Amino acid sequence: MCGIVGYSGPGNSVNSIIEGLSRLEYRGYDSSGICLKLNGELQVIKKEGKLDNLKEILNKMNPSSHTGIGHTRWATHGAVTTDNAHPHGNEIFAVVHNGIIENASILKKELQAEGWEFKSQTDSEVFLVLLTKFYKQTSNTLQSISKTFNLITGNSSFVIIEKASDKLYGIKRSAPLVVGENKETREAFVSSDPFALVGFAPNIYFPQDGVICEGVVSETEVKFNFYELDLKPSTRIKSQANAMTMDANSKGDYEHYMLKEIHEQSSLVDKLAGFYIKNEGRKVIEDLDKSIPAAFHITACGTAWHAGLVIKNYFEMDNRIRCFVDIASEFRYKNPILNKKEVGLFISQSGETADTLACQELCTEQDIASYSIINVEGSTLFRNSTKNFLIHAGREIGVASTKAFTLQALTGFLMSRAMSKTLDKPEVYQEIITLSQRINEVCENSEQYKTVAENIFHKKGFIFTGRGTYFPIALEGALKLKEIAYVHAEGYAAGELKHGPIALIDEDIVNIAVVGPELFEKTVSNVEEVKARRGVIVTVGPKNNSELEHLSDFYIGLNFDGLPNLAPLMVNVVLQFVAYHIAKLKGTDIDKPRNLAKSVTVE
Ligand code: G6P
Repeated sequence: MCGIVGYSGPGNSVNSIIEGLSRLEYRGYDSSGICLKLNGELQVIKKEGKLDNLKEILNKMNPSSHTGIGHTRWATHGAVTTDNAHPHGNEIFAVVHNGIIENASILKKELQAEGWEFKSQTDSEVFLVLLTKFYKQTSNTLQSISKTFNLITGNSSFVIIEKASDKLYGIKRSAPLVVGENKETREAFVSSDPFALVGFAPNIYFPQDGVICEGVVSETEVKFNFYELDLKPSTRIKSQANAMTMDANSKGDYEHYMLKEIHEQSSLVDKLAGFYIKNEGRKVIEDLDKSIPAAFHITACGTAWHAGLVIKNYFEMDNRIRCFVDIASEFRYKNPILNKKEVGLFISQSGETADTLACQELCTEQDIASYSIINVEGSTLFRNSTKNFLIHAGREIGVASTKAFTLQALTGFLMSRAMSKTLDKPEVYQEIITLSQRINEVCENSEQYKTVAENIFHKKGFIFTGRGTYFPIALEGALKLKEIAYVHAEGYAAGELKHGPIALIDEDIVNIAVVGPELFEKTVSNVEEVKARRGVIVTVGPKNNSELEHLSDFYIGLNFDGLPNLAPLMVNVVLQFVAYHIAKLKGTDIDKPRNLAKSVTVE
């Protein structure tokens, strides 16, 4: 979603801002812009579409500026147009915004009634106009930021520069914001993601909600001042060294990040088992059996929600612990029944998903503990949770999540084993090693999935089916396909097809049926029902099975032996490949699919 990068210092701000925005491209956006201080004036340059469009303009202009802010916009209020792109600026300030101002339309009407004019349809411009209004009354930037921030509702982060100085200002409420400095080079930075600052700012600070950050660069030093909204100095900031690295920021020999990330899964699975069973992770996980909660409330969004459904199976089957799994945007508004002996379990790759964060806050308010299964160490969810179970997936760049899903589900499996005190049973470690090998075998068979894709990619619709532990895999397979190939795909419990979706079946609909060893015959019967209505049948099931071979138009046989619990994660990798190959044949933007964002920081 929206990316923010700001710079002030002796260097050319354009370089760091464009580099930072390029690093945030993977998050998803539809326009970009920059505001530079040039010859004492604020100059805004912005363009609809990819960052390359903005770069093209900048290359021609070749500007040099010591202070600037840049933004990649993922549209919420107002269409994808150059006018609606950020920054929004006037003769006094320029502002970039990530999030939603919920009371924007009321405020805008009031401001228009006072005679203020707007150039865009965005909620963000309301912040700029309010800021300007208060500045005209007070001539004080900090006071104007505070007054403006007090008036707006919703979750947002804002970064501001002004004509009057080379300072950088930032403030946020339940949205990501990080500021950083490099004392040696005397440079100040601000961003919505610490990744944008890797290599630029060794020292970074995470302000809490409502803290005004003021970056000041002088001839001799760089420093950040932090203020509360009453402009008294604030200490509500967490400072740390930026531990992120750029290693993952390369596709290597792979055509897409998604493909690279699919291939990484085998070795990451192996490493995660080592971490939690044999190495440092052991102490994080082993005391889970000491205070087993009465129930878990799992909340997450998208792929992470599907991982939650897989984890529910593990927790309930191994431990008979009741697990509720909710989509985060539903849970937060349903007035959930929670009690203190229960635990909220949040699953998130980024740790910045607005709805998941809101669920975590709700659990804190109700005084129940928060556990997170999470990839990004130091993210907001990570910082706010009582306990974190890191999935160690490394940076996931492809917008469609692949390796994070596998490692989230596997972390849940390990937690489940820790709760049932069976973590040390040799078969647990062995099963994970077997999973790692089988994922490798799946990767080696990619050409087979490509052939299947070539035969079905032109079909009208895709229904993924599975039963029991394979039902969430069917949901995830369908999600992957629609995300990256832009085709209609649904995930269904195999036994549920006859209650509606079977009406869709004809020769232009594909049923991608996961037929696991459990409930094999029943699942086969469901596939028969589709075949009888001339649907195209792709089965993924146990290898060398003549029944499946006979039944299917395309049959993908896998070795399920030795994977009594983890076979769904192997099957899922096959579905990742199927989605990938179909998307490639369709010619879509696989790593940055249209309309999607990697990290959804608005509700
Ligand atoms: C977005 C991404 C999905 C992801 C979901 C949850 O929709 O495109 O791939 O599953 O957000 O993200 P999280 O970072 O919380 O796992």
